[in-house]
Amino acid sequence: MDQQLQISILKELLRQIDSGANADAGVQYRVPTSIYADPDLAAQEWDQFYQNHPQMIGLSGDLPEPNSFLTLNDFGVPIIATRDSSGKFRAFLNICRHRATRVETEPRGKRKLFVCPFHAWSYSTSGDLVAIADQDDFGEVDKSCRGLIELPAVEAAGLLFVHPKPDGSLDAEALLSKPLLDEMTSIGFDQFVFGADKTIDMKLNWKLANDTFGETYHFQKLHKNTLGQLFIGNNTHMEEFGRHHRFTTANRSLLQMRQLPEEEWQIQRATFVAYHLFPNIQMFWTGDTISLVRIYPDPDNPGRSISQVSIYFTPEAYESATSLDEAAREQAVKDTYKFEEGAVRSPSIEGALEVFTSTIEHEDYVMGEYQQQAAESNLAGEALFGRNEPVLHHFHRSYREALGLPHFETV
Ligand SMILES: [Fe+2]
Repeated sequence: MDQQLQISILKELLRQIDSGANADAGVQYRVPTSIYADPDLAAQEWDQFYQNHPQMIGLSGDLPEPNSFLTLNDFGVPIIATRDSSGKFRAFLNICRHRATRVETEPRGKRKLFVCPFHAWSYSTSGDLVAIADQDDFGEVDKSCRGLIELPAVEAAGLLFVHPKPDGSLDAEALLSKPLLDEMTSIGFDQFVFGADKTIDMKLNWKLANDTFGETYHFQKLHKNTLGQLFIGNNTHMEEFGRHHRFTTANRSLLQMRQLPEEEWQIQRATFVAYHLFPNIQMFWTGDTISLVRIYPDPDNPGRSISQVSIYFTPEAYESATSLDEAAREQAVKDTYKFEEGAVRSPSIEGALEVFTSTIEHEDYVMGEYQQQAAESNLAGEALFGRNEPVLHHFHRSYREALGLPHFETV
């Protein structure tokens, strides 16, 4: 990431901290709470944003070597993603061409052949139908026409994208814009190694889950004993890239970093750098780690969403995280929110996941469940997005625009 850009973002955050004022969008919005409970809106979102929109499914590190695979079933289509024997990222429907069951049931791993558990038809990581069990009995099959059904798949800037429709169009630059792709490429997301994952399945609309990642106004209130120990709160820098954005907020290290010459400032040490990729991705880069959150609606229930959290590490941090003994891992969880001036702690897998338990699941998403209940009661009328919540303005403006809906009314 360009050093001048880092300096300008950090200076803006310092300006806000010094002046005691958060970012100011200059306008408040009136938000009908029905947007979180309306089944017709939910059906449009599912159709346009999940069934017919490219999906980011992970990072390059999820498929670390030739013949690695990953399966998922988050957006109504069973997917098997592979790095084929030549190293190319590919994606297929995880559907056997014999009787349409799932070919692979493990979440991730490495195999040269996928053998369907039902009748043992086998496929290569390039999707070719390689062998049919007892073919003499089964009868003639043209194997060349019965490979796994391939989906458009693109690997760019260390991110893996799939289109859920075999004839869907997928172009990373058209999807993300060149400046955003270049910036993410410069960070080197492709170097990160998968460490651990976690699923949070709770009773809140997928947009409420997205909203919890869209403002820092609450850090010193809701998170005063958790994330608020590490982050200052009430400071926000956002840059829009079409429907996507980058959102940064300062942690306490920024107050020491400001003493250093500007050319030594490192944004990933003094903030989290969050990338929201429309519609459902929240990705946090904090130097040694990336936390990726993929948020999915339940197509049958607007009041439920599933957040798939994956944690990635730099190779060095992964090495050190996986060499910790049990006592050190327990200590790391206890120290999750302990701020030590000037200390750069190497991250642990358990500590990284702990943030998603104690801050996100037990605090943010609990608020989301309360908001959901209010929305479903039909009595709450409207909520407000403040002048200090510009990231929420952008997310809601973006999906409404995509659906052809007008933006909310201002106050
Ligand atoms: Fe929060």
